[in-house]
Amino acid sequence: MNDQAIGIFDSGIGGTSIWREIATALPKEHTIYLADSKNAPYGNRSKEEIISLSIKNTKKLLEFNCKTIVVACNTATTNAIKILRAQFDVPFIGIEPAIKPAALNTKTKKVGVLATRGTLSSALFSETSDLYTQGIEVIEVIGSGLVELIEQGKIHSLEMLELLTSYIQPLVEKDIDYLVLGCSHYPYLIPILKKILPDNVVIIDSGEAVARQTKAIVAENNLLTPRRTQGTHTFYTNHKLSIVQDILKENSINTLEYLNF
Ligand code: DGL
Repeated sequence: MNDQAIGIFDSGIGGTSIWREIATALPKEHTIYLADSKNAPYGNRSKEEIISLSIKNTKKLLEFNCKTIVVACNTATTNAIKILRAQFDVPFIGIEPAIKPAALNTKTKKVGVLATRGTLSSALFSETSDLYTQGIEVIEVIGSGLVELIEQGKIHSLEMLELLTSYIQPLVEKDIDYLVLGCSHYPYLIPILKKILPDNVVIIDSGEAVARQTKAIVAENNLLTPRRTQGTHTFYTNHKLSIVQDILKENSINTLEYLNF
């Protein structure tokens, strides 16, 4: 059981930003990643659709005997993780916008959150946000179109720069000093965001925290692999292979295959 893989899924390639952190924190663990790019973006879908896609992805990862599942998608976590935990007997780790460190450290008392509509409108996001943001202005921005462009391989396009600027400039004018990235696709936008944001604005994403949490949960459940050698990493996409290849080109990918799921 302990040498089985950690399963990871996202609506597409964004969760590879989380996979990267997990593979660094747990180098001996095998991982299996599902990119549900055929159904991306999840962010504009109804809660019911997000739940049913999350169940589909979980079932597929369990067919591969994954010992634990990381929901590497804020939209799926905030809308579906309670149901997944109730329905499946395996530990789940989710990802939510890291509002707490931003709220605790902001000096201007103004924090920007860039996320999908599905995440920002979820009850789980409101509950977490309400818990930490007394006396702080949280300015929420829906990043419409950003996931679509990333999934089309257009991270470094003029279209992306213009769209991102139109979302970020109003936040800068409101004097935010923290920008929380509430979507696992968005860490790939950090180089562009740095060009748009003034130097004093801190960008926060949840990748490292999720990797720490994954390590803790796997250890707590006595599921750490006893192997001493490096883990293998298998990526499945139900859309274009080239998009996953491009995003992972700096990493050595063990296996990348098309899978109809
Ligand atoms: N990576 C997903 C997230 O973290 C993107 C959601 C989408 O597909 O719209 O929310």
